[in-house]
Amino acid sequence: MSHTLLVIVASTRPGRIGRAFGDWTVDFAQSHSDFDVQLADLAEIDLPLYDEPEHPRFGNYQHEHTKAWAKIVGGADAFVFVTNEYNHSFNAALKNALDYLGPEWRGKPAAFFSYGGASAGLRATNALDSVLACLGIISVQPAISVPFAMQYVKDGVATLPDAVASAGPAMLAELQRMTDLLRPAAQ
Ligand SMILES: Cc1cc2nc3c(=O)[nH]c(=O)nc-3n(C[C@H](O)[C@H](O)[C@H](O)COP(=O)(O)O)c2cc1C
Repeated sequence: MSHTLLVIVASTRPGRIGRAFGDWTVDFAQSHSDFDVQLADLAEIDLPLYDEPEHPRFGNYQHEHTKAWAKIVGGADAFVFVTNEYNHSFNAALKNALDYLGPEWRGKPAAFFSYGGASAGLRATNALDSVLACLGIISVQPAISVPFAMQYVKDGVATLPDAVASAGPAMLAELQRMTDLLRPAAQ
């Protein structure tokens, strides 16, 4: 049985380029790994600001939107976070989506696809890394990092040069290796 890789698109704003990078990541992972690849677009999932009464570590969710999100994340074995950079960090929608859940994240590996201006979104992934550690998500390297990202998206479709995409195969191989180590029962 193959493992499930969930590609999570953080950006939710109209006109975003993040969805194009999410679609690119899904296609790339499907052609360069054995993962069963799925997309979670936070704009479509449309979670309200965190509104659960109990701490997520209990997994005792009250709301249907939380239960639906828990099913998506709980069904994944590994993640790729496709993250923009807003004001030197990752965006609020992603923090909100992370805060909603507990056990569904824990003990699973994650990789980064970051993008932005000159910094390629690396300040966002640095900030994200400490939140992932708190949730028990194990981040792996290498990552895909896209500087001056706007130039690579035309009409909602991303085309990345080899120099930018070159970390992709090693990133997926490390995600696969860590998934096999962490979730042998799912094999
Ligand atoms: C509120 C806001 C803050 C931003 N802050 C940064 C930043 O700190 N660093 C950076 O490289 N780009 C920054 N940008 C530019 C984004 O990298 C660029 O708009 C990118 O397209 C955002 O991703 P998205 O289109 O998927 O939302 C910012 C954009 C917005 C809207």
